Amino acid sequence: MSGVGKRVKNQTIGVVGGGLMGHGIAYLLAAAGHEVRIFEPSADIRASVPERLRAIVDLLEDDPAVLTRISAHEALASAADGAQFVFEAAPEKLPLKQHIFAELEGIVAPDAVLASNSSAIPSTEIGRKLKHRDRVIGTHFWNPPHLVPLVEVIQTEFTSDAVVARTMELLADAGKKPVHVRKDIPGFIGNRLQHALKREAIALVAAGVCDAQTLDTVVKEGFGARIAVLGPLEQSDLVGLDLTLDISSVLVEHLDRTAGPHPFLRAKVAAGKLGMKTGEGFRTWTPEQANEVRERLRNFLAEQAKARRKAKR
Ligand SMILES: NC(=O)c1ccc[n+]([C@@H]2O[C@H](COP(=O)([O-])OP(=O)(O)OC[C@H]3O[C@@H](n4cnc5c(N)ncnc54)[C@H](O)[C@@H]3O)[C@@H](O)[C@H]2O)c1
Repeated sequence: MSGVGKRVKNQTIGVVGGGLMGHGIAYLLAAAGHEVRIFEPSADIRASVPERLRAIVDLLEDDPAVLTRISAHEALASAADGAQFVFEAAPEKLPLKQHIFAELEGIVAPDAVLASNSSAIPSTEIGRKLKHRDRVIGTHFWNPPHLVPLVEVIQTEFTSDAVVARTMELLADAGKKPVHVRKDIPGFIGNRLQHALKREAIALVAAGVCDAQTLDTVVKEGFGARIAVLGPLEQSDLVGLDLTLDISSVLVEHLDRTAGPHPFLRAKVAAGKLGMKTGEGFRTWTPEQANEVRERLRNFLAEQAKARRKAKR
């Protein structure tokens, strides 16, 4: 086992795409001691990478030395050459991702792990045409990846068990909470759960049961207050499956089962009510209120990330 532990230290890691997700993924891996090279084709975005990384150092009150382990590259080959792992965080387009993975196959060693951060495109399809598709895997980070612990590690129909294990080890060593998703299904686990909740939330507001602010209060001040320490199945075991069945027998038939996106949501989008960026979505927002939400979220996640690291030391 000690040999396995050693293998995830001091890796050379490529990150494809230096956007929102890519720079955060690069940061968390460099913070774990790896040498990280980002491939970013846009000169402007490439030029902004150091400043965005510096902002993470400041937010987490980290040692700036972490930045010396990250470089930004204009060419894929110079970022991926010699890498044991490559994490792809390029735009969500299947032909583009397939092209990147085909190119990567010509650059890295046959046993290098090729991971996609795709949120919706199945990694099974990204890797289908490759020669060594057993090393293609999904690693679904949550935004911002350097602050949210979970990474869904998705085993495609071709991914070997050894590649799953190596990827989980690397991520766990970097302080993440990797979970093994055994089937490459749409939405994996987290987004399915999140959208099941959103479907009901939208239906309740559409039916006039409450307004959007009340709905959010119910979640944040109700089961949301305990959900970080008590998952839904743990909670069922806590109260008893007999009670869970009794409630389920009464309630489930009343839950929303609109096929497809709810008409209430479609109507909002058609009216240009897109949320904070247009000043109105489910609720109305001034720019100050929107900034306050963003800041509250960033500070909350940063405090939690710092506390987790302190507890680990
Ligand atoms: N934003 C999120 O919350 C989130 C969460 C989980 C997963 N994802 C997934 O992560 C991936 C990246 O999303 P993002 O939000 O970071 O997008 P983004 O637009 O912020 O970043 C994508 C970057 O890829 C670069 N790029 C464009 N063409 C490229 C190419 N041919 N090769 C390499 N890079 C290229 C772009 O210049 C850009 O900097 C997507 O697959 C997305 O679905 C996003």
